[in-house]
Amino acid sequence: MNLNIRPIMMQDASFINEIRRMDGVRENMLGIISERITRTEAFINGLTDNDHVLVAEIEEEGQKKVVGIIGLHINKNLRTRHSASLGIAVHRDYQGKGIGKALFQKILDLADNWLMLVRVELGVFVDNERAINLYKSMGFEIEGRKKYAAIRNGEYVDEYIMARYRLKYWR
Ligand SMILES: CC(C)(COP(=O)(O)OP(=O)(O)OC[C@H]1O[C@@H](n2cnc3c(N)ncnc32)[C@H](O)[C@@H]1OP(=O)(O)O)[C@@H](O)C(=O)NCCC(=O)NCCS
Repeated sequence: MNLNIRPIMMQDASFINEIRRMDGVRENMLGIISERITRTEAFINGLTDNDHVLVAEIEEEGQKKVVGIIGLHINKNLRTRHSASLGIAVHRDYQGKGIGKALFQKILDLADNWLMLVRVELGVFVDNERAINLYKSMGFEIEGRKKYAAIRNGEYVDEYIMARYRLKYWR
């Protein structure tokens, strides 16, 4: 698979909107079936220098297609600007093929070597085994459990807070 990882563009909005709404993704994120493309466009429009969003693009039968997205959002507060939060999604039909890992490696290189962040954190539903395995393999550890954190298919579900630290900068 020829994978191109690049910054998000406005033209990606419809791909991202589709990924967020689809079964196999939506239930593990905070997507909702009524989400409109205009919401994604507003998200892209609102990105600042503190937001680093990359997409995974492939080419199939001569057509370019966005099949994954990762976002690293640096905290703006002056006393938490050493830390950022992270979110990721890969299209249902392209999961388990190394795309999530490739997106993670790119964004963590940015976090470690170009932004020199100390802390990167994320939230993940406690039963999302695939994502938890990926995060552990990338050096994240579970810090705690947020109970009844979100609504999913008629239930309130728990979320793990996971984080990864790079302390070498100041030790
Ligand atoms: C979680 C997600 C981002 C992972 O991306 P992916 O492209 O499917 O993952 P990869 O193919 O790169 O696999 C990376 C790692 O995930 C884990 N993994 C992959 N498939 C797995 C499976 N079926 N079961 C358990 N772990 C699995 C492995 O640790 C794997 O590393 P390895 O290949 O070295 O063993 C993707 O599946 C996804 O978008 N899921 C739906 C939305 C979601 O859960 N987003 C995260 C919300 S917190």
